[in-house]
Amino acid sequence: MSSPSRVLITGGAGFIGSHYVRTLVSGGYAAFAEAEVVVLDLLTYAGNEANLAPVAGSPQLRFVRGDIRDTDLVAKLMVGTDVVVHFAAESHVDRSITGAADFVSTNVAGTQVLLQGALDAGVTTFVQVSTDEVYGSIDEGSWTEETPIAPNSPYSAAKAGGDLLARSYHRTYGMDVRITRCTNNYGPYHFPEKVVPLFITNLLDGLPVPLYGDGGNVRDWLHVDDHCRGIQLVAERGRPGEIYHIGGGTELTNRELTTLLLEATGRDESFIRPVADRLGHDRRYSLDDTKIRAELGYAPATDFATGLADTVRWYRENRAWWEPLRARAAL
Ligand SMILES: NC(=O)c1ccc[n+]([C@@H]2O[C@H](COP(=O)([O-])OP(=O)(O)OC[C@H]3O[C@@H](n4cnc5c(N)ncnc54)[C@H](O)[C@@H]3O)[C@@H](O)[C@H]2O)c1
Repeated sequence: MSSPSRVLITGGAGFIGSHYVRTLVSGGYAAFAEAEVVVLDLLTYAGNEANLAPVAGSPQLRFVRGDIRDTDLVAKLMVGTDVVVHFAAESHVDRSITGAADFVSTNVAGTQVLLQGALDAGVTTFVQVSTDEVYGSIDEGSWTEETPIAPNSPYSAAKAGGDLLARSYHRTYGMDVRITRCTNNYGPYHFPEKVVPLFITNLLDGLPVPLYGDGGNVRDWLHVDDHCRGIQLVAERGRPGEIYHIGGGTELTNRELTTLLLEATGRDESFIRPVADRLGHDRRYSLDDTKIRAELGYAPATDFATGLADTVRWYRENRAWWEPLRARAAL
């Protein structure tokens, strides 16, 4: 791809989107270093302009508070945009179980508004950022990009809806749409309702941590920086219409993860509070990421022990960031 003049990043004030924006604006993605960066974010409970504070003064960055479902606004922002990287979503599974409507509205309908806006404006490349959760649950082995989707939660079903629309815009209109699907992310600026930051902040405050069911659910943990590098490789060199898995983190049961977090914060097992399992809780996710490794030279760079220690240190040193957010979290 030739160097884009403008990149539109939706959800760029959230956990992963803001990591991508901070890295891009700091010069971390050379091919996009000259691009104007426009962030479109509604600043829902999960969005936070403070996540962009380290790059807020950059003349390269423009922040627009707005809704991806706003057809007129999206149409305006698409004019002159070369690349869209679409992170915006309702992203918390537990919230989708107590109320699915916003998930369908943003993750499905909002994605369609963006796709149509991009098509109408002749945007060159659209990257749909998605999740391994669209495949459901797998006891053994790993999913490939050819595996049929079978989502189990309203969150993952809504993400799958967005993915199917993205695919359809490629098949129907020949649009250059690329889909990434990643495993569970961890790292700094992660909203403290998700398990890693929730457990770290509780433990730092001497509070118990709620462990679902038997603690045996397995997730593959990848540092957010590796996820964003994978997305960037797909944006730069992926093929139109293709799905790319981004994985290669560390598989752990929730109990194993909890033990590591207890050790990192100097707490013991008495801080574990077993709670009733999540409804429809997927047992295990696992992606085969051979394709992105072979085709685009992707490999994760952050080893889990180092990444987790850095993340715990970040939460220790950034109370001013997370303390106000806890009140907004679905605890
Ligand atoms: N967190 C993970 O482990 C993970 C793993 C794989 C894929 N993903 C995907 O990555 C993307 C980003 O996830 P995240 O963890 O950063 O989520 P997040 O909840 O931290 O951030 C989502 C952002 O989207 C914004 N947003 C929500 N609705 C919007 C709307 N209607 N219009 C404009 N902005 C809106 C929010 O304000 C927020 O800033 C999501 O699409 C998610 O499905 C996440």
